[in-house]
Amino acid sequence: MQKQQELYSGKAKTVFTTDDPNRLILEFRNDTSAFDGEKLAQLERKGMVNNKFNAFIMQQLQQAGIATHFESLLSDQESVVKKLAMLPIECVVRNLSAGSLCRRLGVEEGQLLNPPVFEFFLKNDALHDPLINDYHILAFNWATAGEIEHMKQLTFAVNDVLKQLFEQAGLLLVDYKLEFGRFEGELLLGDEFTPDGCRLWDAETRDKLDKDRFRQGLGGVVEAYEEVARRLGIALA
Ligand code: ADP
Ligand code: TMP
Ligand code: ASP
Repeated sequence: MQKQQELYSGKAKTVFTTDDPNRLILEFRNDTSAFDGEKLAQLERKGMVNNKFNAFIMQQLQQAGIATHFESLLSDQESVVKKLAMLPIECVVRNLSAGSLCRRLGVEEGQLLNPPVFEFFLKNDALHDPLINDYHILAFNWATAGEIEHMKQLTFAVNDVLKQLFEQAGLLLVDYKLEFGRFEGELLLGDEFTPDGCRLWDAETRDKLDKDRFRQGLGGVVEAYEEVARRLGIALA
């Protein structure tokens, strides 16, 4: 697989084209951002940890029958993925209340949400990723009715697999964000699943082991990600 030119550089990853028109290389950088790019930092080792974390989770999901873009690990900070036409939508499932849900609805953090809450957000940093619903998606042609149903179904299927996986490691999967894209007429899970895009709490102490450590200035960000990886049995360099 030959790396060709840079296609896009986002807040945390750079996307490269390859000699295969259907494959991309994702480079997980050490850059870390929060509040839609307002707070930025470089965190040593984060690119490597997230690349390997993401590879492990994507493989677990694939083994459970959920189709993803992930193909293979290429290096410490790079992975090969299928090139998707990304939908400009973020799918969030929440098992416990936290983050923007608490701010928006004035509810306490840490309440069990049964059934879990599903939300769509528009992927648009300039607008601070506003909350949207099925009607906005249809009216603006961001996805079809079939894709809306498929995104909901796949996002909940991910919850079934990962809630259990994290529970076995003594962790609560509080919430997470997924992005999907089209590939040869099929909808595949794209982007990443890492502690940058989910909330994970220690099941006993409720200590935060995800990007909230960065957002809230708690320190020990990458150390927390490494602790989660260690509990899941992910081999890091
Ligand atoms: P952001 O764009 O939010 O700053 P990143 O820094 O993580 O985020 O950049 C990665 C970009 O690559 C994201 O915009 C994401 O939607 C896109 N992407 C992820 N996986 C794929 C894929 N398989 N094919 C095409 N684009 C992808
Ligand atoms: P929120 O509480 O800020 O809405 O986020 C819910 C979950 O989704 C949380 O785990 C963080 C993740 N998320 C992202 O990673 N990026 C985003 O742009 C959004 C809206 C959420
Ligand atoms: N993912 C967004 C950002 O990097 C939002 C956040 O994580 O707070 O700015």
